[in-house]
Amino acid sequence: MTCRRGALIVLEGVDKAGKTTQCKKLVQALQESGRPAEMMRFPDRTTKIGHLISSYLERKSNLEDHTVHLLFSANRWELVPEMKEKLEQGISLVVDRYAFSGVAFTSAKPGFSLDWCKGPDVGLPKPDLVMFLKLNPAEAEGRGEFGTERYETTVFQRTVQSRFEQLMKDPSVNWQVIDAARCIDDVHTDIKEHTVNAINKVEEQPLGDLWK
Ligand code: TMP
Ligand code: MG
Repeated sequence: MTCRRGALIVLEGVDKAGKTTQCKKLVQALQESGRPAEMMRFPDRTTKIGHLISSYLERKSNLEDHTVHLLFSANRWELVPEMKEKLEQGISLVVDRYAFSGVAFTSAKPGFSLDWCKGPDVGLPKPDLVMFLKLNPAEAEGRGEFGTERYETTVFQRTVQSRFEQLMKDPSVNWQVIDAARCIDDVHTDIKEHTVNAINKVEEQPLGDLWK
């Protein structure tokens, strides 16, 4: 008997769109309905590379822009063996940010093209579904102050949003835009429906390679 693989589900969006809250609710709902699921997040700050990234984000250290971009990518690659193993075991992974954040955030800096930014992440496991939690900048501001980490400013987040919009034009990725301005439960219902559909579909499809 062959065990069907799990689905790779990614949540993306600008800060304060509710990604982390929704990832947790989704994993819980999947588990409660008897579907094996686990949450992951990028950056994964628990690894050695993750420590370097965390210190950079907290402004405790400075890193050259290309260098930190490559570290974010390396932080995904170092977890690929574990991700593939889990997916093969039939566990669906719900991932809080992925390569799309990597590209959207670095390419929001001056002098970085979308193409250059995509390079290091080409060939990563391709998500079966990427849900973009859409929240316009005014609504995001209404959710309170940004934190104090690097990138947490309104001006930068606006540029990030426009980079995400460029990335979403790529039809090789299964994007779903989710209106994140609604209440938590309505957003959750929507996300769960898309996820269950994706999980049911992966039966016939092998895991793909991102941007290849
Ligand atoms: P977090 O707040 O979800 O932990 O994300 C940390 C910050 O890192 C957030 O501002 C987005 C940014 N980021 C990148 O710049 N590149 C990446 O590859 C990822 C995953 C996140
Ligand atoms: Mg944050």
